[in-house]
Amino acid sequence: MTDTVSFGYEDVSPEEKTRRVGGVFASVASKYDVMNDAMSGGLHRVWKDVFVRRVKPRAGEAILDMAGGTGDIAFRMEKSGAAITVADINPAMLEVGIERAAKRGIDGLVWSEANAETLQWPDRFFDAYTIAFGIRNVTDIPKALREAHRVLKRGGRFFCLEFSTTLWPGFGDVYDAYSHHVVPKVGQAIAGDAESYRYLIESIRRFPNMERFKEMIGEAGFVQTKVEPMLGGLVAIHCGWKI
Ligand SMILES: C[S@@+](CC[C@H](N)C(=O)[O-])C[C@H]1O[C@@H](n2cnc3c(N)ncnc32)[C@H](O)[C@@H]1O
Repeated sequence: MTDTVSFGYEDVSPEEKTRRVGGVFASVASKYDVMNDAMSGGLHRVWKDVFVRRVKPRAGEAILDMAGGTGDIAFRMEKSGAAITVADINPAMLEVGIERAAKRGIDGLVWSEANAETLQWPDRFFDAYTIAFGIRNVTDIPKALREAHRVLKRGGRFFCLEFSTTLWPGFGDVYDAYSHHVVPKVGQAIAGDAESYRYLIESIRRFPNMERFKEMIGEAGFVQTKVEPMLGGLVAIHCGWKI
């Protein structure tokens, strides 16, 4: 029997998941930014601001923003003077990011097609690795975490921003109802694609809880792992250090 992985609420082969996730982001790329605002009421901007404050990028550092998509995290970090590489498996998302950067007059970013599971950079290359709303879409998450550890220098830091499971009583039910019933409809109305948004919501539900994901980061070799929940854990920042 072949091993399966989750694609939303379905279990599929690893190859099929990678293919379907590619289809989701190719389909939503052009509407991705407007949908983020519509679905989160603009809150994703606040979460990303907090995230980058935690990362504390500094001039002279080399930082890999993995699953960087259309550049939201990179644009925030670039102001620090750090050298940022935006990497993503999906060329359609990167293309939108490159256009956005040009419109903003940002020309110092390196854009690179890459699969988080098999990075093309040598060992101990980056000072920090960031991944925002990306890791749950990766087929083999432990493999991606090991790769993150490999490409970081000793003393390098790993930061992940991802949806998780809120521990606030009642709020979880309201959010569940909103996400399952409203988000696909908004996806249909704005992006003409309910299915992709249904997947994005289902993938949140299948993602390991905060404690388990923290353990997984430790299993990849990181130390001093921590988690910072926001809205009770609806969204969480995980971090760890390579020594
Ligand atoms: C929800 S978007 C997040 C984009 C951006 N980080 C942000 O916060 O706006 C998820 C991104 O993960 C990328 N992705 C999915 N699987 C990946 C993989 N195996 N390696 C690299 N990127 C991947 C998708 O192409 C997509 O651009």
